[in-house]
Amino acid sequence: MKGPVLVFDSGVGGLSVAQSLRQHYPDAAMCYTCDNAWLPYGLREDAALTERIVSVCQAAVDACQPSVLVVACNTASTLALEHLRQQLAIPVVGTVPAIKPAAAISQTRHIGLLATRATVARPYTQRLIDSFASDCVITRVAADALVVEAEAYLAGITPNTERMQAALTPLWQVVTAPTEHPKLDTVVLGCTHFPLLKPWLEQLAPAPLYWIDSGDAIARRVAQVVAELSSDHHDGRCYTTAPAANLTAGLARYGFKAPQLLNVR
Ligand code: DGL
Repeated sequence: MKGPVLVFDSGVGGLSVAQSLRQHYPDAAMCYTCDNAWLPYGLREDAALTERIVSVCQAAVDACQPSVLVVACNTASTLALEHLRQQLAIPVVGTVPAIKPAAAISQTRHIGLLATRATVARPYTQRLIDSFASDCVITRVAADALVVEAEAYLAGITPNTERMQAALTPLWQVVTAPTEHPKLDTVVLGCTHFPLLKPWLEQLAPAPLYWIDSGDAIARRVAQVVAELSSDHHDGRCYTTAPAANLTAGLARYGFKAPQLLNVR
């Protein structure tokens, strides 16, 4: 079946993934769904969140009839990918922290993982570290406050750099202060909201760093699982689970129409 690519996130973070998808496939039709009624996912309890993610993705698949679902959320993917694959009849591409490319690029072998509280603590994340970065020191920083800043940014509010700086202090401490480990040189943006804040992250960082996200890897993966992408330019539909008129202008910048409410059973 030739349907659009359905991009799903708790909020606006998936737009960073949609942007990578558009760079790779400029003609591909895309739909966007976010579960803004349950945002932020990073602070939710696992069992209830798993059930919720499956219900919302099922409803979005029913509404959009996509050929592939891209779960553009690390917090959702590291928890519920297997459940989604069992439930849905289409391919599901997940987003997980880019530990492998970070390990390939880090020269000091000290990597920062900036993600939600849930993602930094997930067994899935630990397995990625064990598999691909066992020779690296990993400093995990839960930065859920940055999710709030990215949401505000898409609603037209300039990010608050004081609040961002407070969330980032534990990371900067291992960039600048002497520790028993070599200095950190690479940061994994393990939450899809964070690439939206990259200009501020780069500005606030006390030293130049490699910033790694999963956008390109996801875009490449989509081509591996779907033979042909639809190019129906009438798409660009967007569904939310709570009213989001404040996001209409931000969504339009990423090629999506004004949000409609999704009917989640
Ligand atoms: N964008 C989501 C991620 O990649 C998380 C945001 C949230 O906490 O809802 O993890």
